[in-house]
Amino acid sequence: MKKCSIAVFVVLAFAMTALMGTMAIAQDTKSGKVPDTFDIKDPGFKKYKKAPVKFTHKEHSVDFKLACTQCHHVYKDGKNVFKDGDKVEKCSKCHTSPKKNQGKMLSLYNAYHKNCRTCHKKAKKGPTKCNQCHPKK
Ligand code: HEC
Ligand code: HEC
Ligand code: HEC
Ligand code: HEC
Repeated sequence: MKKCSIAVFVVLAFAMTALMGTMAIAQDTKSGKVPDTFDIKDPGFKKYKKAPVKFTHKEHSVDFKLACTQCHHVYKDGKNVFKDGDKVEKCSKCHTSPKKNQGKMLSLYNAYHKNCRTCHKKAKKGPTKCNQCHPKK
């Protein structure tokens, strides 16, 4: 009887630890859960010359206090009307061309670089050199 309750306790303790682990690694937004850190690995790039880029979503959003609209957008009459709670689509859902801009629509390559690098350059913070975002394969 005693052995049995110890076993139950051990199993429960493990379950709790595992649960707390998963809670700590995902950012809960009204738009859904986002892993704190992930490889972007956008399916719009058919193959990778460089390596997929590791991105610290929670750090950017929470610690650096950046608004969702710095990176996510839904344009209506030329204005970004995205708000937390709206569905977030992959960048490649709209920026469908991997390399070449199509009219005003930036290619996926330019969309990422313009978004990430331009802010780092302006802020004089964050990586701007190729290898700082793309680790050597
Ligand atoms: C601030 C971060 C950042 C910097 C600096 C940066 N990139 Fe990228 N780059 C990205 C992101 C994000 C993607 C999309 C990656 C993904 O899908 O995982 C990307 C995608 C790419 C791709 C398409 C995917 C592939 O591997 O074929 C190439 C090529 C690329 N970058 C080359 C470069 C080169 C060359 C430089 C330097 C001139 C550079 N990048 C600098 C963030 C950066
Ligand atoms: C500094 C840029 C940045 C900020 C700020 C940011 N995000 Fe993101 N977010 C990204 C990138 C990049 C991805 C991955 C996009 C992809 O895979 O196409 C992503 C992915 C997501 C996803 C997952 C989408 C999926 O494919 O499942 C959700 C949900 C999300 N973000 C919500 C938010 C919300 C809500 C905020 C504000 C509280 C926010 N993000 C702030 C850059 C950002
Ligand atoms: C629902 C469709 C859609 C999605 C998803 C989307 N974009 Fe865009 N994006 C657009 C449209 C449309 C424009 C052009 C707006 C205009 O007319 O100037 C644009 C413009 C941009 C621009 C240039 C204007 C600016 O804000 O600096 C960048 C950079 C950009 N997108 C990056 C991204 C990144 C990075 C992602 C993923 C995190 C993403 N986009 C996801 C539709 C989308
Ligand atoms: C609107 C501004 C902004 C945008 C957009 C942005 N970043 Fe950053 N990023 C920052 C700032 C600010 C820092 C540095 C903070 C510091 O050093 O204190 C940073 C730091 C980083 C770092 C180094 C620290 C860490 O968290 O690993 C990486 C890598 C990085 N960014 C990748 C990206 C990628 C990839 C994207 C595009 C998907 C992106 N960033 C988009 C503002 C931005």
